[in-house]
Amino acid sequence: MSRVTELLGSKYPIIQGAMGVICNPELVAAVSEAGGFGLLATAFAVDPEILRNQVKSTKALTNRPFGANLFVMNPLTEKFAQVLAEEGVKCVTVSGGSPKALIPMLHHMGIKVIVVVPTVDVARGAEAAGADAIVAEGAESGGVQGLKVSSTMVLVPLVVDAVNLPVIAAGGIGDSRGYRAAFALGAEGVQAGTRFIATKECVAHANYKATIMESKETGTGLVDMGRFRIRALRTPLVERMLKGEEATDRAFAGEAIEASWLEGDLEAGGLPSGEVAGLIHAVPSVGEVIKEMVGDGNS
Ligand SMILES: Cc1cc2nc3c(=O)[nH]c(=O)nc-3n(C[C@H](O)[C@H](O)[C@H](O)COP(=O)(O)O)c2cc1C
Repeated sequence: MSRVTELLGSKYPIIQGAMGVICNPELVAAVSEAGGFGLLATAFAVDPEILRNQVKSTKALTNRPFGANLFVMNPLTEKFAQVLAEEGVKCVTVSGGSPKALIPMLHHMGIKVIVVVPTVDVARGAEAAGADAIVAEGAESGGVQGLKVSSTMVLVPLVVDAVNLPVIAAGGIGDSRGYRAAFALGAEGVQAGTRFIATKECVAHANYKATIMESKETGTGLVDMGRFRIRALRTPLVERMLKGEEATDRAFAGEAIEASWLEGDLEAGGLPSGEVAGLIHAVPSVGEVIKEMVGDGNS
């Protein structure tokens, strides 16, 4: 058993990254059933009781462990943590801000904490704050990223050298080659996001999955949101944002997310995705993705 599978309680050291409303209980449970570690998301969540229902729905679909992501900037984060503790969740990832205040609270609740970091300095800070493991997330990853970032290939070995904790690589991992590369860089596990959107169990709209499948490796861009950026597929809407012809403020929040990610209206909002979309050409089941990744599949 590796340090990461021991921490997660899973068969394989594979985390399905949090992805807002599209990490539905069916996806999270399928990942855990297949030997990985599914995560529910709370970044845009507005009601702790909805999270409780999602945890209950996931528990109804799997007896295997799964977790959730706590996004520090969400003002309800402590309430979400309380719900997770009450429902027996044993391990979470923390992202979107300093984990310093949350880590002692989560540990007191019996919850292990994996901190998602974009830089070596932040990794050192997370270790000093008491993190149990680190997700080192490189700049090719989908979703929110800071203004100062580096690629997975550079970040992961530097973080491995800088901390004594197990390091989980994220950003650009979509198949068995990426999985093995992460271990070659010194990581002890992987977190994948985009690969799990294009799966049968993910609730994302068929248009979202099709846009990932059609994307080349150059098919994403970084949308400037001011204090951070979002890597998203270059749909016509996002192309206009990249040229400064379209406002970005509402394109990745609330109603826009529902309309584009869940209902497939690609003019309503942007579709976050990693560069790894270029490697994705099909919509298999979660089980097939994980089998192939760990080298236990037919392809
Ligand atoms: C649609 C989408 C939403 C995301 N939302 C979150 C989030 O709420 N919290 C978080 O820590 N990471 C979030 N991420 C990042 C993923 O959890 C994961 O770390 C990332 O996708 C890994 O890179 P990859 O896309 O190359 O696999 C999101 C990514 C995507 C594509």
